[in-house]
Amino acid sequence: MTAHDDFFQKKQAAAVLKHGILTRYPPVFATMTGSTSTGGRVVYLDGYAGPGRYEPEPGEAIGAPGSPLLAVQNASTVAKWSRDLHCIFIERDATYANNLRQVLSMEAPATLKYEVMQGDVEHRLDDALSLTGDSPLLAFLDPFGTALPYQQMVKRLMNRGDLKTEVLLNLNLEMVWRIGGFLSGEETDDERTTSGRSATLERVDNFLGGRWWRDSFRQARASGFRGSAAAAARKVASEFCQRVEKTTGFRSFAVPISRRPGHTPLFLMILFYRHPAAPYQFNDAASGANGDWRSHFRQVDLAEELAKQQTQPDLFGSDFVVEVSEKDARTVEQQLETAWTDVVTANIRQLIARQPTVSVQSQFDQIYGTTLGLAREKHLRRAWDRLADEKVVQPRNKAEKLRKLTIIRAGHVVML
Ligand SMILES: C[S@@+](CC[C@H](N)C(=O)[O-])C[C@H]1O[C@@H](n2cnc3c(N)ncnc32)[C@H](O)[C@@H]1O
Repeated sequence: MTAHDDFFQKKQAAAVLKHGILTRYPPVFATMTGSTSTGGRVVYLDGYAGPGRYEPEPGEAIGAPGSPLLAVQNASTVAKWSRDLHCIFIERDATYANNLRQVLSMEAPATLKYEVMQGDVEHRLDDALSLTGDSPLLAFLDPFGTALPYQQMVKRLMNRGDLKTEVLLNLNLEMVWRIGGFLSGEETDDERTTSGRSATLERVDNFLGGRWWRDSFRQARASGFRGSAAAAARKVASEFCQRVEKTTGFRSFAVPISRRPGHTPLFLMILFYRHPAAPYQFNDAASGANGDWRSHFRQVDLAEELAKQQTQPDLFGSDFVVEVSEKDARTVEQQLETAWTDVVTANIRQLIARQPTVSVQSQFDQIYGTTLGLAREKHLRRAWDRLADEKVVQPRNKAEKLRKLTIIRAGHVVML
């Protein structure tokens, strides 16, 4: 068993959020981009696919679906809207790749087109891109540590001319701060040679596009920028996104993923995009996924509470525990939604006081503000309606898609 086998033995909390995004965003991408592609064809490339299913947890007959199974479910969903989502999976490990083939042969619909390529994504990328042809492409990169070399990402994946392309990268922040620790000697570098070269650091250079991150990490640590290695890794990630944008024009939207609420993020799910609707839609996906993640922790807490009931039963019993837990969950979610709607309302109020019109799609980050990744369209709708009732803004056009609308100050006349 390798250290990484642990990963597939239990669906971790971080995977709940990641998978929440993977069940929501790719169908939106396929629906939007497939409307103009030949035969509605859209390609989804899962570059670090894994074995397809997690190992079952104790008491479970079957493990949770991994990213490839979510992809085939998405393909079935979007087929209803005449989108032909062609899935390409690359997996380096031969055992995982064989397992994946087996899982898909049993579980993927017979009509679905998919490919499993065994090998290194660096070596199989050209094959995957020639299969993609000129179809829209969403590439998901989810390595354990470093991903595709920077040059391949920007020169191959993000260099398809006008063809619709987005890249979703699950960036492992913990890897950056752990390996960053080699720079200062805080962590032991087993791969350092006597001449001082380190294969580990060079892999990170290769992934992040040069040695620039080493200085950046050191400076962030030395400046005591909120002190921690985790903050230094966030800074490196943010500079990485800026570099990608400078090189390719692809902008980015990052969703932090932590193991538990309130903990330091271990990963960033970063969407690299060009289409202006992408971050708005991705935010909606992140908001839903964050809801799954909160619910996951409630289930974990409930399971602990029920286990306690078995060893130390109280007067009320487990049915009562379940009932209270469900009621609490509803109350907490309602409180969160009310708080987010209040924040969004306040943000729109401030924006509209400064400018007579606010474009939902291009100013959604200012509209959501601190609730970015948590609140979504339904909270924005409620906030807008509340401000329209207060005669602060004009009512929205309910027949149009919300993201395409402009919020207009009450009394302001828009010249067409
Ligand atoms: C984090 S796991 C993927 C989990 C999967 N995306 C999911 O959510 O179910 C990373 C996988 O990438 C594979 N891998 C690592 N390096 C790779 C490479 N260079 N090319 C292709 N696959 C690789 C590993 O064997 C492992 O199965």
